[in-house]
Amino acid sequence: MSSILNKKPEREDEVLDSALRPKKWSDYVGQDKIKENIRIIITAAKQRSQSPDHLLFYGNSGLGKTTLAYLVAQEMGKEIRITAGPAIERAGDLAAILTNLSEGDVLFLDEIHRVGATVEEYLYPAMEDYKLNLILGKGPMARTMELKLPKFTLIGATTRPALLSSPLRNRFGAIFQLNFYTPEDMEKIIKRSSDLLKIKIEPEALKIISNRSRFTPRVANRLLKRVRDFAQVQGNGLVTKEIAEHALNFLEVDKMGLESGDRKILLALIEKFNGGPVGLQSLAAASMEEEGTILDIYEPYLMQCGFIERTPKGRIASRLAYEHLGLLHMRKQLI
Ligand SMILES: Nc1ncnc2c1ncn2[C@@H]1O[C@H](COP(=O)(O)OP(=O)(O)OP(=O)(O)O)[C@@H](O)[C@H]1O
Ligand SMILES: [Mg+2]
Repeated sequence: MSSILNKKPEREDEVLDSALRPKKWSDYVGQDKIKENIRIIITAAKQRSQSPDHLLFYGNSGLGKTTLAYLVAQEMGKEIRITAGPAIERAGDLAAILTNLSEGDVLFLDEIHRVGATVEEYLYPAMEDYKLNLILGKGPMARTMELKLPKFTLIGATTRPALLSSPLRNRFGAIFQLNFYTPEDMEKIIKRSSDLLKIKIEPEALKIISNRSRFTPRVANRLLKRVRDFAQVQGNGLVTKEIAEHALNFLEVDKMGLESGDRKILLALIEKFNGGPVGLQSLAAASMEEEGTILDIYEPYLMQCGFIERTPKGRIASRLAYEHLGLLHMRKQLI
């Protein structure tokens, strides 16, 4: 069975993402402080007839970074160009993108932590002075050429801010962390998505999906879509509380929104390492997951739930985790 969590986004996800992506500020639920801040930055820049500062968005996958970038461009009335760290292999790739921008455009650079060190060096003057210093030729014949760039706003997005070098981080005028959403905001998001997808859903069912969607809009949308299938095939199309519960149990998404991958990690931590502390590498090996997937996908939510704690010696499973899995009897006695 395919996982509900987003490891490698599939085509289907992209279609769902863009179908449900808020296109107006008023549809972008929650993150009020960030929205307010961004609007001030944009309004002030407009009043000075300048392009706004470069912005960095960081936070877990599916919390709304890309969506926010589109809204910024829209608010500025400019085009948005999209690229991602792994797509820019050489300085030439960056030059091609930057020289094709028009004055005031937004360049959205997703997975910015994956931009290589050499390319990063070229980004600095581009961000600071809107110039690109290209080196033509090799060895003693090499010459540098300075290209003037249009004034643009770079929006970087990353799930791993710690991997950004500080010179790069320092070149952003404002840095925003997207947080997990509140249950109320999640319900609003699910309601909006059901309206857009013409899904009839009972308020109780909204609550159930909201509670199990890891406080993450993309997960909520994906769960909603799966639950709709159950309502259609096993019911009369209406998403009731019973159908939502049945469908999510069938998909092995538990009451806290944990799925089999999360449980595998917690179980490895408890059963193989006696609850920890254990290092990431060992935990990854024991649970047969990639370290990056644990860091990006599983751990932030497990920590948010209070199931895993990070200590200087490694990860430990909390009492809550034992309780949730019904394994309290296995908990070693703390002296
Ligand atoms: N604040 C929000 N209000 C309503 N819907 C939202 C919000 N944030 C995200 N969504 C929904 O979740 C989907 C995923 O959001 P988005 O693609 O912006 O996440 P992301 O942070 O860029 O994720 P990734 O790190 O995987 O690229 C969007 O298509 C949209 O439908
Ligand atoms: Mg994104």
